[in-house]
Amino acid sequence: MRARALADARRLVRGARRIVGFTGAGISTESGIPDFRSPDGVWATNRTVTFQEFLASEAGRIEYWRQKVAAWPAMRKATPNAGHAAFVELHRQGRLGTLVTQNIDGLHQRAGLPADQVLELHGTTREAACLRCDDRISADEAARRVAAGELSPRCRDCGGFLKPATISFGQSLTPEVVTAAFEAARRCDLLLAVGSSLVVEPAASIPRAARLAGAGLVIVNREATPLDGMATVVVRGEIGEVLPDIVDSRSSDREVPEGGVEPERTA
Ligand code: APR
Repeated sequence: MRARALADARRLVRGARRIVGFTGAGISTESGIPDFRSPDGVWATNRTVTFQEFLASEAGRIEYWRQKVAAWPAMRKATPNAGHAAFVELHRQGRLGTLVTQNIDGLHQRAGLPADQVLELHGTTREAACLRCDDRISADEAARRVAAGELSPRCRDCGGFLKPATISFGQSLTPEVVTAAFEAARRCDLLLAVGSSLVVEPAASIPRAARLAGAGLVIVNREATPLDGMATVVVRGEIGEVLPDIVDSRSSDREVPEGGVEPERTA
């Protein structure tokens, strides 16, 4: 089944001219950054601090910063992997329109995608921003200040709360980013969704919008997702193993072994 799904995904990607990439934390695990909902993911060891709690409680802000500063070294030293490189290859072929990511690690840009082609739905952990005046400091500086005892750093300009420039549960996403992501999804001829459990909204509605607008939808993920049923093709596997093969315009369609099974298609 996997060989047939791979061959079908390759064929869809090769035939597409305006591809939108959509990624989740699963594309960065092979760079050493844990995802959220796998057994060893972030939520297995950290409780969620909502935006409301961050605003209302000093203890909440201290816990949120503790979690972020603990995760920063792995983020900071992470380098892009074969999955990120596969999207750069699509860009090199001139067929990747927009890359919509839920990830905050900046690895798509570090892999070589132009920053203006990457939509970071959930912000970036590479900076901290003041919630009052939007003054920004680097994540390195924020981590230094927390390590030096400023457990819930304040803005040095206006005294407002400093917070990593990521979107927390309960916090509004940036409207322009969300609008651009849905517009790109509705204009593409193929959406390639990689490494996401597709359970968080509004992000998970972006691949859905592409499919409902008539685009093909290829999902590459280790586990099943709620959108598998509407996908054109689902490729179950490790991203670093399968994605380079799917986007390689030179790769021929390997013979599907006799008795190859039709990919999981919708009606
Ligand atoms: N290859 C293939 N799939 C993988 C790999 C891998 N190397 N590593 C992880 N996965 C899969 C997991 O099986 C899981 O289904 O990637 C998916 C990651 O899902 P989540 O951990 O839920 O991450 P994501 O979908 O990005 O979460 C969305 O939720 O917690 C919030 O804001 C956070 O942006 C995040 C959002």
